[in-house]
Amino acid sequence: MGPTGLKIRAFGVFLRLGKVVGMKKILLLGSGGREHALAWKIAQSPQVEKLYIAPGNPGTASLGENVALDIRDFDEVAAFVIDYEVDTLVVGPEVPLVEGIADYFAHHSLLQDVCVIGPSKAGAQLEGSKDFAKAFMTRHHIPTARYSTFTAETLEEGIEFLRSLKPPFVLKADGLAAGKGVVILPTFEEACAELKVMLDGEFGVASSKVVIEEFLQGIECSVFVLTDGEHYVLLPEAKDYKRIGEGDKGLNTGGMGSVTPVPFATADWMQKVKSQIIEPTIRGLRQEHIDYKGFIFFGLINVGGEPKVIEYNCRMGDPETESVMLRLKSDLVDLFEGVRTGDLDKRTVEFDERAAVCVMLVSGGYPGNYEKNKPITIGHVDHSVVFHAGTREEQGKLVTSGGRVIAVSSYGRTASEALEVSMRAAKEIDFEGCYFRRDIGQDLITLEK
Ligand code: AMP
Ligand code: GLY
Repeated sequence: MGPTGLKIRAFGVFLRLGKVVGMKKILLLGSGGREHALAWKIAQSPQVEKLYIAPGNPGTASLGENVALDIRDFDEVAAFVIDYEVDTLVVGPEVPLVEGIADYFAHHSLLQDVCVIGPSKAGAQLEGSKDFAKAFMTRHHIPTARYSTFTAETLEEGIEFLRSLKPPFVLKADGLAAGKGVVILPTFEEACAELKVMLDGEFGVASSKVVIEEFLQGIECSVFVLTDGEHYVLLPEAKDYKRIGEGDKGLNTGGMGSVTPVPFATADWMQKVKSQIIEPTIRGLRQEHIDYKGFIFFGLINVGGEPKVIEYNCRMGDPETESVMLRLKSDLVDLFEGVRTGDLDKRTVEFDERAAVCVMLVSGGYPGNYEKNKPITIGHVDHSVVFHAGTREEQGKLVTSGGRVIAVSSYGRTASEALEVSMRAAKEIDFEGCYFRRDIGQDLITLEK
């Protein structure tokens, strides 16, 4: 049972007695390092009356109130929002968005005034369907790799298309596949075999359509905006490190760390990103009457000085958020208010001049098999921010509960200095089998400004 403040109708709006005017009650959905970093930033805002995180983690519990909700059960989320008079819903991960949580709120008679930070189901297709995203980019002349999409019925054409490309070959399951749906293969034979396996249901319905695209050579960069559907603000850019091993070797993971800023994302390069990618995307969504209020994550690659889109995501990145939030000086809740009122263009966004680096501490064996429930000790960490990613509390003790356990984020005058600070902090954190990369951001050092 939640508070049921007396409501009076005045000038066509409901005023809730007992609610502090202008103060926000926010519900943030998610439970990883990204959500801890978002909660950390949201909790700093003077505009927050109450922050709930569902389901949250032991880290977010110190910044707000964790609530045990199933974030894919929209009825359950809605009941909480109504009972606790939540006015802003921030959706951390993509799944509820792709499943239509924003539409559910928009069509619910008691929830239409709730500001949802996250796009409609149609907008979330930018991430939920690679084929949709590629066709969208083609329609709006947004630079991306040449591609074609195939189904089991057009397997032979798919093989012919592969024959027209140079190795390596990039195959992408159309739908969400928990970050595993992109396969890059060195030979034509392997690519043909993989295409068959994918179309045969390797990733379930997600790979009933497969996008095959040209391989792009370059360095990647994650660019983030928050949009009210018409205007946008740019957040600090970042680079993430996906492979388990140093020097970007070994298996893919959910992300081993991140760095911001990215030295090649100069003012000139970012101007190209804005005019060739961000603005055509937002304009395109409007032209197609797709409701999009929330974060857009542009996964870009720098090909000979030209930015191209590798992928879109309809949410913030993980582990990019764990460094990006450190460099966002402006009040994130004020930016959410700009999304609600549609005047994001009138809000200023300031970046911290310093670099920030996030180092992810992972369980031994990850991304393969690993053990959970290892006790975690955290010593003196004064100069870094510790974000929980895969932890839980058992009888008052912190234990590991996932592959990626803790993200340690730090500032530095340069990325190297920030990395040093994170590594010192990482030494203060211990659990059996703890592993982390010591080279986050180091590949960019020669490019450092
Ligand atoms: P994921 O994060 O699982 O979607 O993995 C996608 C990754 O595959 C990207 O971060 C790139 O490293 C790589 N990738 C995807 N498309 C291409 C492409 N066309 N050319 C080169 N690398 C690609
Ligand atoms: N760091 C990549 C992602 O969040 O998808």
